[in-house]
Amino acid sequence: MIYPLLRPLLFSLEAEQAHQLSILALETLGRMPRSLKAVAEYLSVSHPALTQTLWGLEFPNPVGLAAGYDKDARAAAALPALGFGFLEIGTVTPRPQAGNPRPRVFRYPDSQAVINRMGFPGEGAAAVALRLAALQQPHPVPIGINLGKNKETPLERAAEDYVSTLDTLFPYGDYLAVNVSSPNTPGLRLLQAADALPELLTQVAAANQRLAAQHQHPPLPLLLKIAPDLSPEDITFIARLALGDAPLVDGFIATNTTLARPPEHPEYTETGGLSGAPLRQRANAVIAQLYRECSGSVPIIGVGGIASAADAYEKIRAGASLLQIYTGLVFQGPELVRDILLKLPEICQKDGYSHIHAACGTCA
Ligand SMILES: Cc1cc2nc3c(=O)[nH]c(=O)nc-3n(C[C@H](O)[C@H](O)[C@H](O)COP(=O)(O)O)c2cc1C
Repeated sequence: MIYPLLRPLLFSLEAEQAHQLSILALETLGRMPRSLKAVAEYLSVSHPALTQTLWGLEFPNPVGLAAGYDKDARAAAALPALGFGFLEIGTVTPRPQAGNPRPRVFRYPDSQAVINRMGFPGEGAAAVALRLAALQQPHPVPIGINLGKNKETPLERAAEDYVSTLDTLFPYGDYLAVNVSSPNTPGLRLLQAADALPELLTQVAAANQRLAAQHQHPPLPLLLKIAPDLSPEDITFIARLALGDAPLVDGFIATNTTLARPPEHPEYTETGGLSGAPLRQRANAVIAQLYRECSGSVPIIGVGGIASAADAYEKIRAGASLLQIYTGLVFQGPELVRDILLKLPEICQKDGYSHIHAACGTCA
């Protein structure tokens, strides 16, 4: 109801200014408990067909906020009121950094797409820790922390950055996302390769165990966020990291933005990662392959181009247990979350599924 009124204002601004304005509005809302409650009453949807427990965490619904929107946890107090079933904060790097020169975010409303080359701008792990420490406990919805590396850290020392951020943020997150798939940090995606990934994950998993003992808390579920531009062979290799007697990861987030450019869209001339509608089918294919390779035994967060309840359902049927959205919110606002959550149980019911879990992977 509100977003259609705000949209012309936000679209008259440069994309990143619009983003900052929305963060500022949510940060302010986060300090106004009565208004927050009113927003939550309007936007939240509860339905027994939508609740799940995964990795020991309770998800009130499957629609989460994707990484990149709230990199510094400024809006984290207000975001659950918009109806999200979970949030992913970050990407967080150990030290503050400016990211790439602006402009670095470009909207394509006609095709519901965005290209970004942000390059992980952020205030760094210590600033994020302060904000997360101030949040209500227990969190109203699970909060994931998406870990990345600083641009100037050489690739061979990348693990130190992931571990350093984890050292700072372990007490404040409910799950971890190891991000090796953003296209805008030079070399980052090379960490997805077979000669680098097991070593990186082994180091992060060891730090997770060490911190768990130190904080007398179970280790945090460790998820790996992957790119859509991997070959089927790469995906097979990555899927196996979650299998066997000593799995290195507990789940996957598929996918990040793509470097591919669909030939039917010559207007996508900017450099960076493409998200939104043109990514949807490729992300679904990656999810389905991961689901098949793991025989449905490893939870997958499906992300890429969700703009309707039908898109959300398609990802669940491809094999996603949980979903995330970013670009759809740019064009439709938070009412998209409500719309998906209102329609999903009905769509599942029509196909004979009384719970989203029953639909998961049925088209993988
Ligand atoms: C402006 C922008 C910034 C992003 N920043 C990050 C980031 O910092 N870390 C990350 O893992 N993904 C980041 N992403 C990727 C999203 O989390 C998501 O994987 C991708 O956009 C596909 O989902 P969507 O089509 O719903 O946007 C970013 C996406 C956009 C559009």
